[in-house]
Amino acid sequence: MASQDDYKQLIDATDIVSLVSSYGIKLEKQGKNYKGLCPFHHEDTPSFIVSPDKKLAHCFGCGGGGDPIKFIMQKENIPFPEALRRLADFNGMEIKTNYKPKEDPNKKYYDIMNMAISFYKANYEKTTSGKEARQYLLDRGLNDEIINDFNIGLSPKSSDSLFKLLKDSGFLELDIFDVGLINIDEKSSHDFFVNRIMFPIYNENGNPIGFSARMFNSTDPNQPKYVNSRETILYHKGNVLFNIQKAKGEILKKKRVILHEGQMDVIASYRSGLQEAICTMGTALSLDQARLLLKYTNNAIICYDGDNAGIKASKKAIKIFEQAGFNVRLVLLPDGMDPDEYVKKYGEKAYLDYFESHVIDSLEYLYLTTLKNKNLDDNIVFKEVCEEIYNLLLNVNNQAIKEAYLKRLSDDTKTTLEAIRMDYDNFRMSKASSANTPLYPDDYYIEEVPEEPKPIITETWNSVAELRLFLYAKQSKANAIYIDGTLGESIYGFKPRTTSLWIKLINEYYTNFDKFEEAKFIKMLTDQSDMDYYILMMNKVREDTISAYNQEDMQSCIEKIKLDYYDAKNDDLKRKISSKNISNEKSFEYANEAFQNRKRKLELSKKRGK
Ligand code: UTP
Ligand code: MN
Repeated sequence: MASQDDYKQLIDATDIVSLVSSYGIKLEKQGKNYKGLCPFHHEDTPSFIVSPDKKLAHCFGCGGGGDPIKFIMQKENIPFPEALRRLADFNGMEIKTNYKPKEDPNKKYYDIMNMAISFYKANYEKTTSGKEARQYLLDRGLNDEIINDFNIGLSPKSSDSLFKLLKDSGFLELDIFDVGLINIDEKSSHDFFVNRIMFPIYNENGNPIGFSARMFNSTDPNQPKYVNSRETILYHKGNVLFNIQKAKGEILKKKRVILHEGQMDVIASYRSGLQEAICTMGTALSLDQARLLLKYTNNAIICYDGDNAGIKASKKAIKIFEQAGFNVRLVLLPDGMDPDEYVKKYGEKAYLDYFESHVIDSLEYLYLTTLKNKNLDDNIVFKEVCEEIYNLLLNVNNQAIKEAYLKRLSDDTKTTLEAIRMDYDNFRMSKASSANTPLYPDDYYIEEVPEEPKPIITETWNSVAELRLFLYAKQSKANAIYIDGTLGESIYGFKPRTTSLWIKLINEYYTNFDKFEEAKFIKMLTDQSDMDYYILMMNKVREDTISAYNQEDMQSCIEKIKLDYYDAKNDDLKRKISSKNISNEKSFEYANEAFQNRKRKLELSKKRGK
């Protein structure tokens, strides 16, 4: 592997403009830099900047890219050492590296899943139950071509056939368990999916990661309609998007993605010509899922069930999409129907026509659904509805749109515009004087959406301290041990990924070696995301403006992290204390803990002042 010096030489020697151009990315000169459309996410106006001086190719829209290595890693989806080699090739340079491209560590799991898919398909095609399953699917409007397109199959009634097959094919029991295809109890192992129609689920690269299994011939009321894969090494329900592997091309082409509630709806859309449709697997849309889609488009159309539950879920999804930066539109189907029902009742063509002519923006959707089925003769309901609309309008920063909706509200409630305006102004004033205005109407907050970690790339680096500490720790083992000992539990005040790297450095690296060597350390970073993060950190270090690293600076970095740690801890406690359903006892306990933290922090700051 290359040393830090080799690395620097390699970067310095790179003509980054021709490197980027070699990937077919068109760049335009702008002052000292170059500008182009970002290759990492979809955009219409360029925010991808290439700086020949700084040797950076970075997108200010999505945060993708970085130095030449980082750029190649992301562009080619390859690990660090491989990217190093490519860059050396590109520059016509030689680097010493003993790196052999390694196989995808998940390959064996994908092999198992693929074999399961083939098995379920064969079972579907060759058995009497398969005929029954086929009839069920045909009754639901699918045809053989669609069934084949989605690799739909059938799990057999016997509870160990798949297990036997996989085992006889040489796969390990524990690996089969790890992908969620069997349950292991004291005596034996059993297939996880039994007698259900099997819908394979793939990740965006087309690798199989799980199944959704529908009941089709059971009358047992205790059986759930769908059984999905449990959380496994491959399947994380919070970032699964059914059909993404097939939809992604169409999403790029049509510049929009359609989000449905269930896979039967996705299939209904697919049949009708809306092949850019995807769905989550029985979970609310997460920020991770929205961000994953942002790679392909920033236009989302939510089309959930038209019933009350669907409307509630749509409101949640609007919030998530908007938080991720999407333009959000919706289609509200009539009579509480879902897409699958609509297609069944009126046909594919009618569905497509309805869909395309009923796309509305999120404000319009929220307006319509707020007024939907409300008895405005009831004064309490009337007031609630008006205030919900006013609340919506507070966040609209276009006067004309606001006016138009106030006018409509006056029409729809058969009230004078004058009265509506007055009420709105009063509402606005009372909101402005109360401290925290909720961004959306109350029923927007159905349940607390937990803060999700942001992708590291777009994270603003607010703590230079932890970067420098990492650097000091790399300088010598003595430094590392000193920092680690002084920080104690405050290493959890680092960003979570930094903490994880830190633990690797102390517990793994320095217990085996006495001197830090980049190559050896990188070898320990078997996890691609650890590697990515490490590179990102080292890039950030290069941007650090400090003139000299020294003992004194190291000390103050340690103290900064400690102070931040107690702050973060107390913020967390504060959040817990202010949550709705907390007992008095707990709240007292947390308050006490927060008080102790404040005391410790005060002591620290005093010491620091000396
Ligand atoms: P729905 O119950 O709305 O599904 O659940 P659907 O598409 O109308 O089902 P069909 O039409 O009766 O087949 C929506 C999604 O929620 C998940 C499934 O992924 C489903 O597609 N779900 C539903 C479960 O995970 N478990 C269940 O028991 C039900
Ligand atoms: Mn349905």
